[in-house]
Amino acid sequence: MSDLKSLLHPKSVAVIGASKTPGKIGYAVIENIKASGYAGEIYPINPREPEISGYKAYPSVRDVGKPIDVAVFCVPAGASLAVAEECGQAGVKHLIVITAGFKEIGGEGKKLEQDLIAIAKKYGMRITGPNNLGVMDTHTPINATFAKDMAIKGNIAFISQSGALCVAILDWSLQRGLGFSQFISIGNKADLNEADFIEAAADDPNTKVICLYLEDVVDGDRFIEAARKATQKVPVIVFKSGITAAGAKAASSHTGALAGSNTAYDAALRHAGVIRAETMTELFDLAIAFTTQPVPKGKNVVVVTNSGGPGIVASDSIETNGLKMAQLSEEIVKELSEKLPPAANIHNPVDVVGDAKSDRYKIALDAVMKDPAVDGVVVLLSPTAPLNIVEAAQYTIDASKANPDKAVVASFIGGVKVEAGAKLLNENGIPVYPFPEPAVATLRGMIRFGELRREVAQGGEWTFDDVDKAAVKAIFDKVRADGRDLLLGPEAAEVAELYKIPAAPSKLADNADAAVAAAEALGYPVVMKIASPDIMHKTDVGGVKVGLKTKEEVVEAFHSILENSKKAEPNAKIYGVEVQKMMPKGDELIIGMAKDPTFGPMIAFGSGGILVNLLQDASFRLAKGLSKAEVEEMITETKAYTILKGFRGAAPDDIPALVEAIGRVGQLCRDFDDIAELDVNPVFAYPKGLSALDVKIRLK
Ligand code: COA
Repeated sequence: MSDLKSLLHPKSVAVIGASKTPGKIGYAVIENIKASGYAGEIYPINPREPEISGYKAYPSVRDVGKPIDVAVFCVPAGASLAVAEECGQAGVKHLIVITAGFKEIGGEGKKLEQDLIAIAKKYGMRITGPNNLGVMDTHTPINATFAKDMAIKGNIAFISQSGALCVAILDWSLQRGLGFSQFISIGNKADLNEADFIEAAADDPNTKVICLYLEDVVDGDRFIEAARKATQKVPVIVFKSGITAAGAKAASSHTGALAGSNTAYDAALRHAGVIRAETMTELFDLAIAFTTQPVPKGKNVVVVTNSGGPGIVASDSIETNGLKMAQLSEEIVKELSEKLPPAANIHNPVDVVGDAKSDRYKIALDAVMKDPAVDGVVVLLSPTAPLNIVEAAQYTIDASKANPDKAVVASFIGGVKVEAGAKLLNENGIPVYPFPEPAVATLRGMIRFGELRREVAQGGEWTFDDVDKAAVKAIFDKVRADGRDLLLGPEAAEVAELYKIPAAPSKLADNADAAVAAAEALGYPVVMKIASPDIMHKTDVGGVKVGLKTKEEVVEAFHSILENSKKAEPNAKIYGVEVQKMMPKGDELIIGMAKDPTFGPMIAFGSGGILVNLLQDASFRLAKGLSKAEVEEMITETKAYTILKGFRGAAPDDIPALVEAIGRVGQLCRDFDDIAELDVNPVFAYPKGLSALDVKIRLK
C-alpha cells in the first residue's frame, strides 16, 4: 500500500514554476495553496524571482535546504526531467506533475513520461499525474491545483481521470453547496493510480464515500484488491466512461463474442463491491445520499405519500428496481388505522390523502420508521392547499434522526411551492428529488451497495483440491508439441474430467473400424463429430451425426462426416472423427470463459446450444476470487434460471451440480493462464447431474 499521507497532508510544498504573472498556472497554484489556508511551509521555485505571493522564492528546490514533502510542477514539459532530478537530490517525496505533453501526446511524450518515471523510481519519489489538475484536501487544508476555487469542506472523496471534469464538478458543487474531503485529479497515472487513491481515501477519517470518474483501470488485480478493502469501510461508486463494445475483440468463441470490456468492468466492480453509476447524475446522487444516510440493511421499502398517483409511480419504481414493497407489521398497521382517518391507506404505500395537514405525515412517518420490517423510506409530497410543506419536511427530518438505521429519501413534487421544504430536507441530509423515480433509484443504489458489501465480506475464492493439474498440463504440452493450439474434442473432454467437470465420454477414431470399436466400447447410441482444430462450427459443415445406433450407421457416418468436412473446409487438418456417447437430452446451457486484458479470465454462464448468440443470455463473473455465492447469483441472473428451476411443471434441474461445475471451470481458468478460450456448449442439465457435451479449449 502506498503511503499518501505526505501527499495529502504535506508539511511543506514547493511550487516549481511559481509565477507572479496572473493567468499562468504557476501563479494559480501558489495563490490557491495560499488561499486554501494551508498551514505548512510554502516554497516558490523560480529562477528569476526573489519573492512570489509573499513567500521567499528559490532558484531551485536544491536551494531550499529544508525537507520538502510535495513539489508541484508548473514548468513546461521540456524542463520536467531536470526539475525531477533536482527534486530527487533535494529529497522531495511526492511530485504533482500538472504539466502536459507526456504519454497523452504519444511518441516523444511517451518517452518523456518513461524517463520521468525512471527518475522518480531512482529517488523513491511518487508521481501524481502528469497532465492533471492537481490535488486538494479540504481538511488539511490544501488546494494544490490550478482550479479557480477550493472545494467546500465535506466528506466525499472525488477521484477523476479527467481534469476538465474536476473543474466542472467543482463549479457545480459550489453552486449546490456540496462538500468534498479530497479532490484528486489523477491525470496520466504514470505512477500513482486509482487504486492508490482509493486506499488513501478509504483510510481518511474525513471521507464517508469515494466517487470515481474512470476511463480505464491501470492494474485490474490491484484495483480489485484496493476496492474490496475500501468497500468494507466506505461506499465506493464508479462512473466508467468509454463503455462501447470497441474493446470487445471479435473472438471466435461464443463466450468471447458475448463479452465486451464493459462486461468485464461490470463483473470487476461488482466483485469489488463497488456501485457502478450509469450516469454522472447518479454518481453524485448516491454520493450525497451516502454521506448523510445509512446503508439500508435490506430491500424492504415503504412509501409515505399524500397522493395516490405518485404513490403508484414510486411503488412501480420500487418493483422494477428489484426492491420490495415492505409488508408493514400488524401492530404498525393497527396504529395507523387508529391514528389516521378512514380514507387513508394504512398499507404500503401509506397514503395520508389529499386533505392531510403535516401532522398526518408525522403520524405515518413515526409509525413506519419504527417497523423492523422497513429498511428504507420514500417520502412523497404533493403541494396541496391544506399542507404546511416546511412542517412536513421537518417531521421527515425528525423521524429520520430518531431512526438512524433507516435510509430516507424524498420526492417533493412541484416547483415554487415545495422549494422551501426541499431546501430544508437538503440542508438536513435527506436527499430530495422533484420526481419519485430518482428517489427510488438512489435508494436502490444504496441497498445494492449493502448487498455487495455483504457478498464481499462473506465471499472467499472457491477452490477445489481434488483436480489433477499435472495431467492437464501434460495434455496441453502434448497439444503444443503437435503444433496445435486447439484441443481435439476427446482431449478437451479429458481435461474437463480431470477437473471433475462431468463430460460425455468420447474417443478419437482415425478410421471406420476404430470408430466402430469406440462406439462399442462406449455403448450405443453414439454421436460422431469431425475432429479438426481448423473447423470451429462443426454442425454447419455437416461434421456432426447424432443418434447412431448400429455398426453400419457408424461406418456410414464416419465416411460422410469426413467427406462433408473436406468439401466445406478443404484446407482443414483432420485428425479423424470423435465418437462420443450420446447423452439423453437435457436443458441446454453454456459455461465459458472470456479473457479481459485488464481483469483476466471471466466465467460466463447462460442459455446454451445453437441459440447462444441469438438469446445473448449470459452472466459473467471474474474467475479470480470467484466465490460460491457469486456463482449461485450469476445463475439466477439468466433467463436459463427460469428453466432450471422447473418451468411449467417440469422437474427442476440439478442446480448444485451446475454451481459446482461453474466453480470448477473457474478453477481451471485460474490454474492455466495459457487457456485463451474455453467454451462448454452445450452442457445438458438434468434433474440429477449434468453432462458437458462439447468442450472447446484453445491455448494461447
Ligand atoms: N525551475 C523553476 N521555474 C522555472 C523553470 C525551472 N526549471 N523553468 C521555467 N520556470 C518558470 C518560468 O520562468 C515561469 O515563471 P515566470 O512566469 O516568472 O517567467 C514559470 O516557470 C512557468 O514557465 P513558462 O515557460 O512560463 O510556462 P507556462 O506557464 O506557459 O506553461 C505549463 C507551463 C506547465 C502550464 C504548461 O507547460 C502546461 O503543461 N500546460 C498544460 C497544463 C494542463 O493542461 N494540465 C492538465 C490539466 S487537466
